[in-house]
Amino acid sequence: MLISKRLFTFLLLFLRLSILAHAQQQRGFVSIDCGAPENFEYTDGNIKYSSDGTYINTGVNRNISSEYNYPKNPTLPQPLSDLRSFPEGKRNCYSIKTPIRNSLHLIRASFLYGNYDGENKLPEFDLYVDVNFWSSVTFRNASVQLLMEIISLKVSEEINVCLVNKGLGIPFISALELRPIIYGPVYATKSSASLLLFKRWDIASVNGSGRYEDDVYDRIWSPYSSSSWEILETSSAINDDKNGYKAPFEVIRTAARPKNESAALEFSWESNDPNFKFYVYLYFAEVEKLQKKQRRKFNISWNGSPLFGPFSPLYLQATTVSNSKSLVGNKHQISISRTADSTLPPILNAVEIYVVRELDAIPTFEQDVDAIMNIKVTYGIQRNWVGDPCEPKDYIWDGLGCNYSNSPPLIISLNLSSSSLSGAIAPAISNLLLLKSLDLSNNSLTGPIPQFMEDFKSLKVLNLKGNHLSGFVPDNLLERSRAGLVSLSVDDQNICGSSTCKKKNIAVPIAVSISSVLVLLIALALVRKLRRKKASDKEIEKANKGGGTIASKKWQYSYEEILEITKNFEVVIGKGGFGIVYRGELKDRNQVAVKMLSPSSSQGPRQFQTEAELLMTVHHRNLVSFIGYCDDDNKMALIYEYMANGNLKNYLSDKNSNILTWQKRLEIAIDAGQGLEYLHHGCKPPIIHRDVKTANILLNENLEAKIADFGLSKVFKNDNTNSESEVMGTTGYLDPLYYKSRKLNEKSDIYSFGIVILELITGQPAVIKGEESEHITAWVTDELKRGDFSRIVDPRLEGKFSASSMEKALGIAVACCASPSTHRPSLNFVVQELKHCLEVEFPSHCDRFEMVPRQVYKEMYSSSEPYSYDTDSFTSPFAG
Ligand SMILES: *[C@@H]1O[C@H](CO)[C@@H](O)[C@H](O)[C@H]1NC(C)=O
Ligand SMILES: *[C@@H]1O[C@H](CO)[C@@H](O)[C@H](O)[C@H]1NC(C)=O
Ligand SMILES: *[C@@H]1O[C@H](CO)[C@@H](O)[C@H](O)[C@H]1NC(C)=O
Ligand SMILES: *[C@@H]1O[C@H](CO)[C@@H](O)[C@H](O)[C@H]1NC(C)=O
Ligand SMILES: *[C@@H]1O[C@H](CO)[C@@H](O)[C@H](O)[C@H]1NC(C)=O
Ligand SMILES: *[C@@H]1O[C@H](CO)[C@@H](O)[C@H](O)[C@H]1NC(C)=O
Ligand SMILES: *[C@@H]1O[C@H](CO)[C@@H](O)[C@H](O)[C@H]1NC(C)=O
Ligand SMILES: *[C@@H]1O[C@H](CO)[C@@H](O)[C@H](O)[C@H]1NC(C)=O
Repeated sequence: MLISKRLFTFLLLFLRLSILAHAQQQRGFVSIDCGAPENFEYTDGNIKYSSDGTYINTGVNRNISSEYNYPKNPTLPQPLSDLRSFPEGKRNCYSIKTPIRNSLHLIRASFLYGNYDGENKLPEFDLYVDVNFWSSVTFRNASVQLLMEIISLKVSEEINVCLVNKGLGIPFISALELRPIIYGPVYATKSSASLLLFKRWDIASVNGSGRYEDDVYDRIWSPYSSSSWEILETSSAINDDKNGYKAPFEVIRTAARPKNESAALEFSWESNDPNFKFYVYLYFAEVEKLQKKQRRKFNISWNGSPLFGPFSPLYLQATTVSNSKSLVGNKHQISISRTADSTLPPILNAVEIYVVRELDAIPTFEQDVDAIMNIKVTYGIQRNWVGDPCEPKDYIWDGLGCNYSNSPPLIISLNLSSSSLSGAIAPAISNLLLLKSLDLSNNSLTGPIPQFMEDFKSLKVLNLKGNHLSGFVPDNLLERSRAGLVSLSVDDQNICGSSTCKKKNIAVPIAVSISSVLVLLIALALVRKLRRKKASDKEIEKANKGGGTIASKKWQYSYEEILEITKNFEVVIGKGGFGIVYRGELKDRNQVAVKMLSPSSSQGPRQFQTEAELLMTVHHRNLVSFIGYCDDDNKMALIYEYMANGNLKNYLSDKNSNILTWQKRLEIAIDAGQGLEYLHHGCKPPIIHRDVKTANILLNENLEAKIADFGLSKVFKNDNTNSESEVMGTTGYLDPLYYKSRKLNEKSDIYSFGIVILELITGQPAVIKGEESEHITAWVTDELKRGDFSRIVDPRLEGKFSASSMEKALGIAVACCASPSTHRPSLNFVVQELKHCLEVEFPSHCDRFEMVPRQVYKEMYSSSEPYSYDTDSFTSPFAG
C-alpha cells in the first residue's frame, strides 16, 4: 500500500480508526497466588491466578491454619488460603515485568495471617514498591483480610514489590495483583506521585461489588450507606465516563439521596497524619428520568469551602468529579448540597478516596544496575541481591557501597571476597566505572587479570589475593600503587618480576624496597619529561608546517595537559563507543569534555591527526565544537565543548525528574536536524554521521541541542578500502537497509533520526526492554494497530500538546524510517516539517528558528513527491 502526499490524511484516519479497536480482555493482568504449590494455576471468580515461583526465589510456602481455612471458612478467597513467608533476609522482593509500559498500574497486595505459623502472633512489617516506601503492614487480628492498593505510573521495565523485616515478626504475603489502567486519562496527579487507596465505596449498595469483569480494572468496591439516605436505582444501561473511570454497572446504577430533601448529602473521614494529601473521586449518574420542570443541581464543598459546582448529573451518563488541589488536614467532610434553583435533592453514586504517596526516591544509575545484575548472573550470587542495589539506603545490597551525593546513586565499591566465585573476572565489572574499592579476594577465580583494571580512575583499593589468576597487574595500576595511590593486594605470581615478564613494564615486584621506589620515581619522571619534549617538538613541527590558522590557535595538547585539564580524570561524565568522557577545565576556566579514545578503536596516529584537524574546521551552531585533541605517545583524546545538560538519552529517561515539554522536544528535534543537515549538505565532502542516536545529541544549559561524535566513524575507519563492508552504528538506530546492503548514504542517518523523533514522542528508548526486547518501530506500529494513539505519546507530557502537531511529528518520524530509502525525505524537508509542527503548536515560539515562508515552502516541495508512506515498510531491524 503506497500512499504518497496523503500521508497525514492517511495517518489521521489510521489513528482515528485504530482508537476504536478494543483492547484485549484481561490484558496485562498479573495475578499471583503467593505460596501456592509450584506451577499451580486456577481461576477464582473470573481471574486466573498462578503460583509465584517465577517472580521470586526466596521465602517458604505456608498454608493458613485450618480454623481460618476452607472448609471452616467457606467464603475465603482461594488466593488467601496460602502465603509465602520470609524468615530469611531483611528484604525480599517480587520482581514483575511491567505488563504494559507507560501505563498506570493498580498494584494490590493481600495479606491474611490466619495463624499460619501456629504462633498466634501478628507480625508487623513494611512494604515497598521499587525503591519507595509504600506502607506499613499491621494487623488487627488473625482473620482480617488486609488489602493494600496503590496506583502508580510505570515507565520502567519492572515492578518490584518488596517486604521488609522491621524486627517485629516475619513478613509474609498472600496475593499480589497488577492491573494496568489502560483507558486513561484517569487518576491524574503529579507524575512522580502515586495514589494509595484509602476508601472505595459503592454508595447505597448492600453487598458491594466490582472486580473483573464487572470492573475492567478489577477494583473492589465496598458497600457504604447511611441511615439518613434513601436509595435510588436503575436497571437501564449507563454510559461510561468519558475519561475512563469506568465504574462497574452494579456500582453506578445505585445512588443515595438524603431522606430530608433539603439537607445536604454528606460523608466524612479522618486521617491520623495531618500531612496526608487526599484526592477524592466522586461518581455521579442521574438514575431518575426527570420531568419537564424537575431539576437536580448541586454544589460540592469540602470542610465548607467550595470544591465543584454547580453541577447537574446527566441521565444515564456517568461523570467523575475530583478535586484539583489535594485536600490536607485531620478531618475531612464532603458536602453535596442542592442549589437554590434545584427542585430535587443531591445524589451520589460512588466514591474513591486516595492518599498521595510521593515516589521520589531515585533508583541506582542504570548502567551500574545493568553491570551488577550481569555480575550477579555470571557468578550466581544469592545474598540479598534483589530490588535496587543502592536504594533504599537501609537495604543496600551486601558487599556494595554507593555514593548518594550523586543523583542517581552510583556504585563505588564491590566486595565479593570469600564468595566462592569461580571462572574469569567478569567483564561487566569494567562498567562500574567509578569503583573506589574492589575486593575479589579468597575465591577461585581463574584467567588473566583484565586490562580494564587500570580504567578505574578512582580506584583506591584492589584486592585479588587468594585466587588462581594468571597474567600481571596492568602497568598503569602498578605505577599508581607504587606512587601510593592504590592499595594493591595480589598473589605473588601476578606481580611482574619473574623471567616471564617480558613486557616493557618496569619489572619490579610490588614488595620493592624504598630505594628502588626512588629509582622508579626518577625513571618515571624522566620518561614523562621525554614525552613532554616529544609533544612540544610536535607542536613546533606543526607550526613550521605553516598552516596559518592551525598555528595561531592551540589545538594540540599533550597528555600531561590532559591530566591537568581533567584533574587526573576526576569526574566521569559519560562513556561512548570510542572511550570514556571526563569533565575538564581549561586554563581560561572554560569547562570542556575530554574523550579519551581507547587505542584499540583507533587507526594510525598520522591519520588520527589529519582527521582530528579536519574536525576542528567543522563549525555549526548545532554541532558540538571541537576545542582540541591530544595525540601523545598512543594516548589519544578529543577535547570538545562542555554541554551542561548531558545527552538527550539521559535527559529523556524516566530517571530524570525534569520533564521536557512538547515544545522543547520539537525544538531539540529541530536543532539536531539542523546539525545533521549541515553535515549532509554544508560540508564538503558531506559527512555521514553513522551513529545518530539520543546519546549523541547533547544539551547545553539552555537545552539547545548539538550533535556529537560526528566524523568519528571516519576517524576510526580501520581500513579505507573495505569501509563499505563494515557496519557501524548502534542497535536500535541502525538502518535495516544499510545493514542489509552495506551501502552507506545519508538516508541511513535519516532513518536513525526518525528513531530519535519517535523517542521524543514516546519517551521510550529505541529498544524497549521487556520480557522480549522490542524495537520502538514495532511497538509504535503495534500500539497504533491496537488503537491507542494516546498511549504511544509520552504520558509525562500529560496531554499538553496539540494533536495535529503530534500527528505531524509522528508522520515525519514514520517517513524517515520508510523503506525503500528513496522514500525517505531529505533533512531539509524534515527540518522544515518539524518547524511547522512547532508553528502549529506554539506560533510565537518559532522566532528562534528561521522559517521558510509557507508559500515558498509549498512550492519547494509540492512539485515532486517528497516522500511516501508504506505501512509494510515501517520495519524494525529485528524483523529479519
Ligand atoms: C497447602 O495445602 C495444599 C492443599 O491442602 C497442599 O497441597 C499443600 O502441600 C499445602 N502446602 C504446604 C506448604 O503445606
Ligand atoms: C477481626 O477484626 C475484624 C475487623 O475489625 C472483625 O470484624 C472481626 O470480628 C475480628 N475477628 C476476631 C476473631 O476478633
Ligand atoms: C446481597 O447478598 C445476599 C447474600 O448473598 C443476597 O441474598 C442479596 O440478594 C444481595 N442483595 C443485593 C441487593 O444484591
Ligand atoms: C431538613 O434539613 C434542613 C436543612 O438542613 C433542616 O433545617 C431541617 O430541620 C431538616 N428537617 C428534618 C425533619 O430533619
Ligand atoms: C454554588 O456554587 C456557585 C459557584 O461557586 C455559587 O455561586 C453558588 O452560590 C453556590 N450555591 C450554593 C447554594 O451554595
Ligand atoms: C561521592 O561523590 C561526590 C561527588 O561526585 C564526591 O564529592 C564524594 O567525595 C563522593 N563520596 C565518596 C564517599 O566517594
Ligand atoms: C570485604 O569483606 C570482608 C568480609 O566480609 C572484609 O574482611 C574485607 O575487609 C572487605 N574488604 C574491603 C576492601 O573492605
Ligand atoms: C575464604 O573463603 C572460605 C569460604 O569460601 C572461608 O571459609 C574462609 O574463612 C575464607 N578465608 C579467609 C582468610 O577469609
